[in-house]
Amino acid sequence: PAPGESFDLIVIGAGPGGYVCAIRAAQLGLKVACVEKRDTLGGTCLNIGCIPSKALLQSSENYHEATGSFAKHGIVIDKVGLDLARMQARKAEVVEANVKGVEFLFRKNKVTWLKGTGRLVPGDSPAVEVDGTTYGAKSIVIATGSDSIPLPGIAIDERRIVSSTGALELDAVPRHLVVVGAGVIGLELGSVWHRLGAEVTVVEFLDRILPGTDDEIATAFQRILGKQGLKFRLGQKVTKAETTDAGVTLTLEPAKGGEPTTIEADIVLVAIGRRAVTDGLGAKEAGVALDSRGRITVDSHYATSVPGIYAIGDVIEGPMLAHKAEEEGVAVAELLAGQSGHVNYEAIPGVIYTWPEVATVGATEENLKSQGIAYKVGKFPFTANGRARAMEATDGFVKILADKATDRLLGAHIVGPDAGALIAELVTALEFGASAEDVARICHAHPTLSEAVKEAALAVEGRALHI
Ligand code: FAD
Ligand code: NAI
Repeated sequence: PAPGESFDLIVIGAGPGGYVCAIRAAQLGLKVACVEKRDTLGGTCLNIGCIPSKALLQSSENYHEATGSFAKHGIVIDKVGLDLARMQARKAEVVEANVKGVEFLFRKNKVTWLKGTGRLVPGDSPAVEVDGTTYGAKSIVIATGSDSIPLPGIAIDERRIVSSTGALELDAVPRHLVVVGAGVIGLELGSVWHRLGAEVTVVEFLDRILPGTDDEIATAFQRILGKQGLKFRLGQKVTKAETTDAGVTLTLEPAKGGEPTTIEADIVLVAIGRRAVTDGLGAKEAGVALDSRGRITVDSHYATSVPGIYAIGDVIEGPMLAHKAEEEGVAVAELLAGQSGHVNYEAIPGVIYTWPEVATVGATEENLKSQGIAYKVGKFPFTANGRARAMEATDGFVKILADKATDRLLGAHIVGPDAGALIAELVTALEFGASAEDVARICHAHPTLSEAVKEAALAVEGRALHI
């Protein structure tokens, strides 16, 4: 692009929020540029997040099956070997195919990639400076995403003490991996390295795992992970880390006070949450307001405090999920093109891609209690599902919450095999305002795991057939 060239829309950041927004706006006839400083498109998700982690989760699950559960199926393999270098190379190939795919989509949709770091130019009309060159725009969408929160006093070197980025790149299986934070990243990446042979201890500040998830689901999930061999140290805070050539000595203290203990690790993964990225963006100088947690403040149409400047994805409020960022990207592009884009925040699923998986949508039991909403619960265990038995995957259950008076679906939570795929039906039902009865009356193929969803919906009225 020529210096000073003007666009209808400049998107800053090419993660799932930004790149999807750019594509949708281009589809709607806008002249679009997208600024990205990374060498490849796709943001956190494609480069160092969703995609590489899922590649390793799949590979490590395959390895785990070959070393363990195949035997139960009567498949005897004499010697199973681990070629970690090959596993990592495959992961890199999967990432490359995805990021190249976004580059192709940009070319196809005539989205200009402005390579470099974007900074808002203060002034009367929206403009972005990219490494010294200024481009004008009718609108700007900020989609600069998030990065990991550091633990004070415990410096991440991405060798011994790693963030998720380093944990995806290890070139040897740790003997003992200590994960700080029993959230989504800690449990997914803890599972990866545990399946590949590491001893894994998860240290969590709270007295439970996965805060925000339905209590009953989190408790069952912790029990399942415990059975697999993951160890948990709940209600503990890490106060010190001493790194030596041999490893790391971590000092833990009970969160409620008490005697400190130490724990030896050869790798420590810090996964205590993520925070919005606005470094170098010039938000403050341009007058773009941030909230107390450093996120960009937006209204219901993603407009910031500065006319013509919008923000979406991890850099604003809400769950830090790729599909949430994408939906917002589409919505803001449609709004800018004069259409009525909208995101239903009541029906955004969340999935943890361990084995078994955890998948949730809508309200938890705790949410409903705190809001004083009267509800009914229907539950169905995978032990009573024929397909799950055939798969040798009976851990977990489906839980459906419905309004006591109207039977309207309010929330659904699954821990179990392929929970992430199973939740889609319940997301659709929630989106369409369905009742539990509606789900219960739908014909589900036999034998499939989805019959557990139907049975849980039947169980809301105490009518489950197979338990
Ligand atoms: P990002 O993907 O963070 O993209 C922002 C982009 O902006 C980056 O590429 C950055 O380089 C660029 N940028 C920032 N500032 C500038 C600037 N000034 N100029 C130019 N470019 C800039 N979510 C899921 O839904 N499912 C999952 O399975 C999942 N797995 C995850 C696993 C891990 C290990 C991690 C870390 C995250 C995972 N997430 C997952 C979360 C998901 O990655 C994020 O929610 C998603 O990437 C947010 O998209 P975004 O577009 O808002 O920002
Ligand atoms: P998280 O918010 O999911 O979990 C962080 C955990 O660390 C919490 O349990 C918290 O109580 C704990 N914690 C906080 N401070 C602590 C401390 N000082 N000591 C010990 N424990 C502490 O954050 P996480 O796992 O880092 O992931 C960040 C985000 O990335 C997720 O919230 C999610 O939005 C996204 N993500 C999504 C995935 C998916 O959809 N499958 C996969 C990975 C990440």
